[in-house]
Amino acid sequence: MGLLKHLRSSAELTAALDRLRDDIRSDSSKLPILFWLRAYTILALERDTVSIRWAKLSGLVARTAREFGINGLDHAPGRALLTDYALFQAAPIDGGEGVTDPEQVRALDLGRNYQIELRPVYQNELARVHDWMIQTWEEFRSGDEDQTLAGIMARWAPVGRSGLLPALIEAQELEGWLSREMLVAIAQGLQVPLSQVYGVADFYAHLYTKPVGQVFIRVCDDVPCYLAGSEDILHRIKNLLWVRDGETTPDGKFTLEQVPCLGHCNRAPVVMIGTQIHENLTPEKITALLNGE
Ligand code: FES
Repeated sequence: MGLLKHLRSSAELTAALDRLRDDIRSDSSKLPILFWLRAYTILALERDTVSIRWAKLSGLVARTAREFGINGLDHAPGRALLTDYALFQAAPIDGGEGVTDPEQVRALDLGRNYQIELRPVYQNELARVHDWMIQTWEEFRSGDEDQTLAGIMARWAPVGRSGLLPALIEAQELEGWLSREMLVAIAQGLQVPLSQVYGVADFYAHLYTKPVGQVFIRVCDDVPCYLAGSEDILHRIKNLLWVRDGETTPDGKFTLEQVPCLGHCNRAPVVMIGTQIHENLTPEKITALLNGE
């Protein structure tokens, strides 16, 4: 993809996701739309494909929504995800053009003949959509869920193996990484072989099986940021903190990661510290930030 195209599609994706978040902030009845997006990213990452049959997606939602106080039999939020945010298209299972026009989508028999997929221009952004979903879900989900390992097991054990990835994601939120004890408990709880649990945990870059720092420093190394000097920023961080990519500082405070596009490419180079985005960085600015100035 050309640089300009990348900049444009990245900005459009950010705008669409921000609009969804703003909608939920102003109207909490829209939270189920985020739940459908959550189910989509879980299935898409698990199957390593951006195309998920509507029947599979609605099935996962139906099996898992009740625990979160969401009506899993109501397909309207799933359709709203397709029609209201210009993120997805409905593609016929047996091939053919994807449908994006909201009026046409509303008339389709999705459950029988269609799969839902990110629009082609966003299809290599699945990991970013997933990361956004995790942060946003964390912001909005109800505080009365049982966020202990036992509570997570109680939520996901009934769905067996298809609960593996969501269980790992939620378990990681407890301590920031997945210890062996947690992985064993998940394997037993979901009745999945431990080797498969390890396989999934190792496969996904956003799951950690070693301790991580309290704060992640994520340096975007995608093309626009690279051209704007992200290497110099990275070099400066490594020198200041004495860590390499993927390592954690000895005091356990920071973990350094190089990541693909963070969605702010028109203000490159970009670094995310914790949940805070920092734009138009220079080596001097990142030095000041890390020194707390
Ligand atoms: S390339 Fe998009 S934020 Fe760096």
